[in-house]
Amino acid sequence: MRAVDILARKRDGLELSPDEMKYLVDGFVSGQIPDYQMSAFLMAACVRGLTTAETFSLTQAMIENSAVIDLSAIEGIKIDKHSTGGVGDKVTLVLGPMLAAVGAKVAKMSGRALGNTGGTLDKLESIPGFSVNMDKEKFIKQINEIGIAIVGQTDEVCKADKMIYALRDVTATVPCVGLIASSIMSKKIASGADNIVIDVKVGSGAFIKTLDDARKLAKELVAIGQKFGRKVVAVITNMDQPLGTTVGNTLEVEEAIDAMQGFGSADLLEVCYTLGSNIMVKSGLAKNTEEAIKKLEDAVSSGKVIEKFRQLVEAQGGDVNVVEKPRETLPHSRFIEDIEVMSDGFISRINAEEIGMAARYLGAGRHKLGDKIDPGAGIIITHKVGDYVRAGTAIAQTHSNDAHLLAVVRSLVEEAFQLTTVPHESPPLVYDIIE
Ligand code: URA
Repeated sequence: MRAVDILARKRDGLELSPDEMKYLVDGFVSGQIPDYQMSAFLMAACVRGLTTAETFSLTQAMIENSAVIDLSAIEGIKIDKHSTGGVGDKVTLVLGPMLAAVGAKVAKMSGRALGNTGGTLDKLESIPGFSVNMDKEKFIKQINEIGIAIVGQTDEVCKADKMIYALRDVTATVPCVGLIASSIMSKKIASGADNIVIDVKVGSGAFIKTLDDARKLAKELVAIGQKFGRKVVAVITNMDQPLGTTVGNTLEVEEAIDAMQGFGSADLLEVCYTLGSNIMVKSGLAKNTEEAIKKLEDAVSSGKVIEKFRQLVEAQGGDVNVVEKPRETLPHSRFIEDIEVMSDGFISRINAEEIGMAARYLGAGRHKLGDKIDPGAGIIITHKVGDYVRAGTAIAQTHSNDAHLLAVVRSLVEEAFQLTTVPHESPPLVYDIIE
């Protein structure tokens, strides 16, 4: 077999065989296939698309190339959660402790910020002392003891996805349904979870921009899970405006802590309850979604969820004072500026992609691998789509340790907000649930 012949077949729109996919994946990880040939394959996959059979064989090839984590030493119902990535997406921070508080075992391997979207690991690391690295024995022990661990992915788990993802990030080949489905499911299956809930984000702030593509992706995720004997629920949610009211690491941890105590933004809590209740039913933790939501709400109001978060922070070396007094103990940026609207009107749009981009400029994300994150940097959104605002009202607040950057992003944030003179309904938050 020769890589160049496989590339030519994909370029011409032919379907690649499982052996050809395996040849590409194994060759790339071992260094026999260079970056430029893998990049050519990725671009051909984006332009031509991957068939369902190709998506499946690519997933299988990545799993076969990886160590598969054995979680059988964890007692109980194991749940994993993944998001395709969004702006202000702090759902894992809230939903992880929620599920652990109702008795699930949450074994979560998370990622870092990608493009304009944030990453759970960067958010957790804004908590002084919090470590996202641990060996497999400690990971399993912690989950058995407190029901939850959130760690970074090690090299032994899906190295192929790590390497391919890094290349996709710099070759404009992230937004491809087949590549996203195989990337997510290879990691989830290799990291051992039996029950997986996936938040498929669609809209301006997501990699997937249309509902049709989101449905296609959700169906492929569920189908791949079924082939590997895992229970998967995919929930398609709106990412046309940022989720909740904060974008940026410290700011999102603060909002997540509020949500775990029941004071969170309504949209954030709705996404958590929808994802949580559906996977609880699928995994046998509840009979129906009504019962599941009741259990989740009770866990929040009784204080069990915030206590679970405190245990998580403590177990992973973080400063537990953060849980009681986040606004006094988390690192904040020195410079803060209000962004006001110029006229009266109803907010009809908050472009999530532009807000994500602005937050990244302020220091909340990276422009290249290895860039240092400013944990306090980010944006607070004080008004959301559908709200009526008067000229001069502050609709957002920018935070950074570099005063010059506040001036740089001002027009980007202003332009992200659109106003109309007629009332504008806020868009649906949950579009569909695919099982
Ligand atoms: N998240 C992933 O893990 N992989 C993708 O390809 C996109 C989002």
